[in-house]
Amino acid sequence: MNLVYDQVLALVRAGANVVHIASYEWERVQGMCTAVSREFGIPMKVWSSSSGLSACDEDGRMRPEDPAQSDPIQTMIQLRESEKGGVLLLEDIQPYLEREHHQVTRWVREMCRMPGSPRRLLILGTPVPGLPLEIRKEVPTLELPLPGVEDLAVVARDTASALSVRLTEGASLLEAARGLTVMEARLAFGQAAVQRGRLGPGEVSLVVREKERVIKQSEVLDYYEPDARMSEVGGLENLKTWLDRRGRAFGSGAREFGLDAPKGVLLLGVQGCGKSLMAKAVAASWQFPLLRFDMGKVFGGIVGQSEGNMRTALHVAQALAPCVLWIDEIEKGLAGVGSSDQSDAGTTARVVGSLLTWMQEKREPVFVVATANRIEMLPAELLRKGRFDEIFFVDLPSKKVREEILGIHLRKKDRKPKEFDLSSLADASVGYSGAELEEAIREGLFEAFAAGVELRTEHILAALKATFPLSRTMGQQIDDLRKWASARARLATSEKAEALPAEVSPGVPKLRQETMRNLFIPDSPK
Ligand SMILES: Nc1ncnc2c1ncn2[C@@H]1O[C@H](COP(=O)(O)OP(=O)(O)OP(=O)(O)O)[C@@H](O)[C@H]1O
Ligand SMILES: [Mg+2]
Repeated sequence: MNLVYDQVLALVRAGANVVHIASYEWERVQGMCTAVSREFGIPMKVWSSSSGLSACDEDGRMRPEDPAQSDPIQTMIQLRESEKGGVLLLEDIQPYLEREHHQVTRWVREMCRMPGSPRRLLILGTPVPGLPLEIRKEVPTLELPLPGVEDLAVVARDTASALSVRLTEGASLLEAARGLTVMEARLAFGQAAVQRGRLGPGEVSLVVREKERVIKQSEVLDYYEPDARMSEVGGLENLKTWLDRRGRAFGSGAREFGLDAPKGVLLLGVQGCGKSLMAKAVAASWQFPLLRFDMGKVFGGIVGQSEGNMRTALHVAQALAPCVLWIDEIEKGLAGVGSSDQSDAGTTARVVGSLLTWMQEKREPVFVVATANRIEMLPAELLRKGRFDEIFFVDLPSKKVREEILGIHLRKKDRKPKEFDLSSLADASVGYSGAELEEAIREGLFEAFAAGVELRTEHILAALKATFPLSRTMGQQIDDLRKWASARARLATSEKAEALPAEVSPGVPKLRQETMRNLFIPDSPK
């Protein structure tokens, strides 16, 4: 809030007469306008289509002045002609800036040219950004970030006193509400206070649960406390070492030492080899909250909604910082970038553009972990240096890593790995992904249980023999990916996995993606 407030003051001092503030939070926008009017010692008025014109005193109390006033133009004329100057906030003015109201737009432009003295300031308030082209160049737009802990403290105090419950102030309660708007936080605090008859550290879990619900409601984001541990990820040791180093750069002293906050990492690779698992494990090992971002859902049905979805998600991530923003299967929904045969190619490109710009410019410690398994769908600009700190290739596990993964999953099922012949299991599972190894253990457990005996190596072996790994039918695609990655990405595991059998038997039908040529494979050096 303070940053935006300072920006408004700077704009006004630089001679701006009209400023646009985009935020759902009308209370905070009103509060900020009141502070501006106080700063310049000028009166403040608010107009909305529902309440007409009201005057606002220094403490933010509203007094109806002309409730029947339904025309925003009249209020602008009043401001322009007032001798004392003033601040006029036009709330939810968006619909009036559409084409059929071109008079309003015209008047806004007129207001931009008001003489600077006495000080007069017109503020356009809208819930979402986006001004018509006609005034975009003349009216600067500022977006209010989600409330910080100071704002949330005010909300907590106000809620507690309104509900007459005891408030035990503490950082954990306010931290828990980060990522919510003022209205959402008020509701979350209110519900917790009503249920428990008090508000304090004991109510953190209730507030977190409400936050999970609210974030989920945005449809593109999921919030969860990460549960995977780094020790549950087999192999990928290069990636683990790299992440460990980057994690330290979020710690105290790193900025002073001259380190930039890490931006993020792109994990490319074969299905089921631990990319998503790694995203969860990073968040857990750094003890950051994890936000899962669904790229496919960003491109919602209504035109213009996709950009809004993206913006909301990035705001929430910023408010929750430090956090891990996990963009799973980033290639989903990116298919249209750059292609002209897609009617929404423009939108897709804009959405991706805004993500890239945000990644480049963000100062908050939001670490992006993006995963993908189809490189041909990724726009080139995403892969350019400087977007992600690093691109890692996650390949099928080598023999040693397969043993490790089998061990991890046996332990998860409360079995002792040393009681199994991991070496022969690993020999029998060339080309199997981590997910397929896990599945073989699960299958083996079913077999053993049905036979009424304890799980043994043979059960798992039989399960492995009974299935085909995906790599058997996607050999070409995986080979292409390996070639591409050897030139462009770092290897997550240094030890190479076995080469895949040359070609699938001609009898096996192929999926479309299995036959598609990959355009990104560099020529091998002659
Ligand atoms: N390296 C690994 N170590 C331990 N378990 C693994 C590993 N790789 C995969 N698994 C198991 O397989 C499951 C699925 O893996 P994960 O979802 O991480 O794969 P992915 O690489 O994200 O695949 P996709 O590209 O299909 O999304 C994991 O939850 C885990 O149980
Ligand atoms: Mg995944």
